[in-house]
Amino acid sequence: MWAYSFVVPFVAGKGGLSSNALQAVSPFRPDAAVSDICSSETTELADIDWDSLGFAYVPTDYMYTMKCARGGIFSKGELQRFGNIELNPSAGVLNYGQGLFEGLKAYRKEDGNILLFRPEENALRMKIGAERMCMPSPTVEQFVEAVKATVLANKRWVPPPGKGSLYIRPLLIGTGAVLGVAPAPEYTFLIYVSPVGNYFKEGVAPINLIVEHELHRATPGGTGGVKTIGNYAAVLKAQSIAKAKGYSDVLYLDCVHKKYLEEVSSCNIFVVKDNVISTPAIKGTILPGITRKSVIDVARSQGFQVEERLVVVDELLDADEVFCTGTAVVVSPVGSITYKGKRVSYEEGGFGAVSQQLYTALTRLQMGLTEDKMNWTVGLN
Ligand SMILES: Cc1ncc(COP(=O)(O)O)c(C=O)c1O
Repeated sequence: MWAYSFVVPFVAGKGGLSSNALQAVSPFRPDAAVSDICSSETTELADIDWDSLGFAYVPTDYMYTMKCARGGIFSKGELQRFGNIELNPSAGVLNYGQGLFEGLKAYRKEDGNILLFRPEENALRMKIGAERMCMPSPTVEQFVEAVKATVLANKRWVPPPGKGSLYIRPLLIGTGAVLGVAPAPEYTFLIYVSPVGNYFKEGVAPINLIVEHELHRATPGGTGGVKTIGNYAAVLKAQSIAKAKGYSDVLYLDCVHKKYLEEVSSCNIFVVKDNVISTPAIKGTILPGITRKSVIDVARSQGFQVEERLVVVDELLDADEVFCTGTAVVVSPVGSITYKGKRVSYEEGGFGAVSQQLYTALTRLQMGLTEDKMNWTVGLN
């Protein structure tokens, strides 16, 4: 392992890791092209215990960065050794929270191919969020090419089939210095990756949620519908209290009427009653989840009726099944929900029939185990 970082120039949007883009050399192996180093590092799996992956940060080999001035456009990015970044203490992201993130996954297939799941959807969501947060954003093509380059450079960290996935974390942050409240003069798009297993400590066992009716994560007209970093700082208090009491996470209500379901801290929520699947409609205060959208499409293609509408908290009381969706959580069955001291339990010990069917259909598609009729997966090899 080298002590110093080196930089691999990479022009996003020009077709991935070209040999031209890999001319930089390691300071410790000046005779070795980075392409050699990348390929020797990526042919073998990383030496970690693949059976004990959770959802915790594991440092990997490379990260991708690309900078842009306020009012400008992103043009040239580069892969570099994964490591700390330097920031001016007055950076917009540190002082005023001007930042967005994304999350997507890469899966390794039995044949060695690596699949991304709908990366252009993450790119589009980042574009929409960037507009709300007054930031320039990479184009969809730049985003997708940068994701591909970062995954390929860290290929040895993509878990073996069935052991998990490589979680890909694109960031868009205001890195230029500002003092008064204003958009930062410079922005950085950065991607790092980490191998992950299950998000909840329960694994694929049902999770236990508590409905929060005092603290809110979003307000109408606010930023709840974009993936800005501040939305996550805002949920830490309710989430910490819930976890200390033994719950897996918090289910939020709308802040106006305090009676309509919104979402969980990091995933969307679905309620099943008499084989009809309902989920809160997208109206600016919840994140338009890519897994949510995919599950809705999969469910409809399997003949289910799916309603996107206002879902009243009381509907939880007589639901047949409740489940959550998200890139990190995939499809997670909910075992119980506690609301104002009253606990409602659902399927004992596992998935309900509907959520099991959707989980299986979605994960088989994501892992390349079934024909991708939706054209959602993007292969890297
Ligand atoms: C607040 C919130 N809701 C929902 C989701 C699910 O979105 P996706 O399915 O795109 O991962 C996430 C995760 O990204 C999230 O952070």
